[in-house]
Amino acid sequence: MLEAILLVGGQGTRLRPLTLSAPKPMLPVAGVPCTTHQIARARAAGVDHVVLGTSYQADVFRSAYGHGEGLGVQLTYAHEETPLGTGGALRNVAEHLRSGPDDPVLVFNGDVLSGFDIEALVAHWRDARADVALYLTRVEDPRPFGLVPTDAQHKVLAFLEKPSTPEEIVTDQINAGCYVFRRSLLDEIPAGRPVSVERETFPGLLQSGAHVIGHVDTSYWLDLGTPLAFVRGSADLVRGIAPSPAVVGSNGEALIHASAQVAADAQVSAGSAVGRNCIVHSGAKVLGSVLMDGVVIGAGAVVRDSVVGRSTRIGAGTHLHEAVIGDNCDIGAHNEFTSGARVWPETALPDMAVRFSAEPA
Ligand code: GDD
Ligand code: MG
Repeated sequence: MLEAILLVGGQGTRLRPLTLSAPKPMLPVAGVPCTTHQIARARAAGVDHVVLGTSYQADVFRSAYGHGEGLGVQLTYAHEETPLGTGGALRNVAEHLRSGPDDPVLVFNGDVLSGFDIEALVAHWRDARADVALYLTRVEDPRPFGLVPTDAQHKVLAFLEKPSTPEEIVTDQINAGCYVFRRSLLDEIPAGRPVSVERETFPGLLQSGAHVIGHVDTSYWLDLGTPLAFVRGSADLVRGIAPSPAVVGSNGEALIHASAQVAADAQVSAGSAVGRNCIVHSGAKVLGSVLMDGVVIGAGAVVRDSVVGRSTRIGAGTHLHEAVIGDNCDIGAHNEFTSGARVWPETALPDMAVRFSAEPA
């Protein structure tokens, strides 16, 4: 038996307005929620019981997955009335676990797409007789993440969450958002108050002399926390650059739901995902983008590296580039939204009303 916890209770603020109607891990990337991709990979690595640490919009998970029948794992839910932070969530989940005190328990941040070798991480934890093993990756700009320097024996030397000064940038190795914990350590996290695993639990474990190791794996990795990362992750799944057993029906360039209608002279490519009942009219281009269910793209419109929310209509000739349009919008013809523009749900705009560009998010 191998158990996993998925932390899925965050508010997904950086992905608003998309996360107003669904929690971040339930937004479709390549047609399927990130949570489904993660559970499919965990299952392939031998996980048979998954506990979801929920808070924000918990019902969305329950109604999508029930007890996990469709996922091939047993699924249990833990819930925080008020968010307890990443560490508090782990403590709250711990009572739902069935593992013994010295067994390994996997923990996943719920917004990470990755091709790393899960079994190798567990084996490293076991072979090193570690208390905690952290999956680390290397990135060009580590500042938005948790920096984790290690020594030659893989021992973690420090944990620097989102460093604010140049002196703190001591490594390009970051916390990639998956851990193996000895189960008893999860039970020791303080209960009933917010705890950050990154800012409190990990530094505390290092201070108390716990054996914490880093396991570097440089295969595909992406945190889906921003709009640009979200569209890139979806496109990477559609194109097979990001591996997931849950991607079904991609032709390598696009994943178009069978119920969608795409005009013969429209172009849907560069990893675009087109949801249920979408309509893409003549001459339109949809490139590297995500169209959620029921979206209508007008004739000659261009949608590039953008996300269009459910049941939104984009008028003829309108251009979207690196834009996020919320659910149920009615955007008229010949408008332009670029570089991080965000349109809130239910917005109606006449033709030729807007040429809008914002700073990249
Ligand atoms: N249950 C619960 N309760 N889950 C939460 C809470 C909470 O209070 N807060 C956050 N989460 C979940 C989010 O839903 C997400 O899946 C995960 O925890 C991580 O939160 P993010 O908000 O995405 O954190 P981050 O991306 O800024 O940073 C984290 O991930 C990086 C790697 O992607 C940190 O763990 C960094 O150290 C790490 O480098
Ligand atoms: Mg994140």
